[in-house]
Amino acid sequence: EQKQDLNGINVLITAGPTVEEIDPVRYLTNRSSGKMGYSLAQEAADRGANVTLISGPTKLAHPTNVTVIDIMSAKDLQQKVESKFAQNDFVIMAAAVSDFHVKTIADQKIKKNGKNLQLDLVANPDILAGLGRIKVHQRLVGFAAETQNLLENGNKKLKEKNLDMLVLNDVSRSDIGFNSSENEVRLLQPEKEPKLLKKNTKENIANEILDQLLIL
Ligand code: C5P
Repeated sequence: EQKQDLNGINVLITAGPTVEEIDPVRYLTNRSSGKMGYSLAQEAADRGANVTLISGPTKLAHPTNVTVIDIMSAKDLQQKVESKFAQNDFVIMAAAVSDFHVKTIADQKIKKNGKNLQLDLVANPDILAGLGRIKVHQRLVGFAAETQNLLENGNKKLKEKNLDMLVLNDVSRSDIGFNSSENEVRLLQPEKEPKLLKKNTKENIANEILDQLLIL
């Protein structure tokens, strides 16, 4: 019998990639599978939380007892997250948000003409940093995928985005993280020693993240 230790807690989770349109048939996206965010959503719901999952397109089945909101672009994601932020207690940004969008989405398919094509890419706002500036009671969690100077880069993001926890992935390893069903992460929290969660299933990693949030 599963412990119901998240009873009454409202949890907002984002997961998966975002998709930025170029024209009616083309888009920019990334390799995020959504597995980590979906595992967090399922485990939180199984422990009694009221869970809302805001998800980019993935191949995964919807978690059970979770409200799922589908989004495509970073802008969609931002609107949905900001509209749900006030009523949630734990806010976990596991989505791989596109850092750029295409300046002008063509309304017709762009034709080739034998010449090169330049796309004008505009920087997207950092949604998580924005939430860090307006948070009140929320425990705010970010993810970071790094290939070098893990702790240094991770601690910088923890501080700059005003987070309560940063889940740090080493993406230079191919046996964990992106697209894998296993992960090994470090949890960074302000004024605490980093906590290594050794290689394990994403379900177990999700439960450890939720355990740590509960004692914050
Ligand atoms: O700075 P970096 O992109 O590594 O930070 C990753 C974290 O920030 C993730 O939690 C991701 O969901 C979030 N993020 C965001 N908006 C962006 C880019 C990243 O909320 N435009």
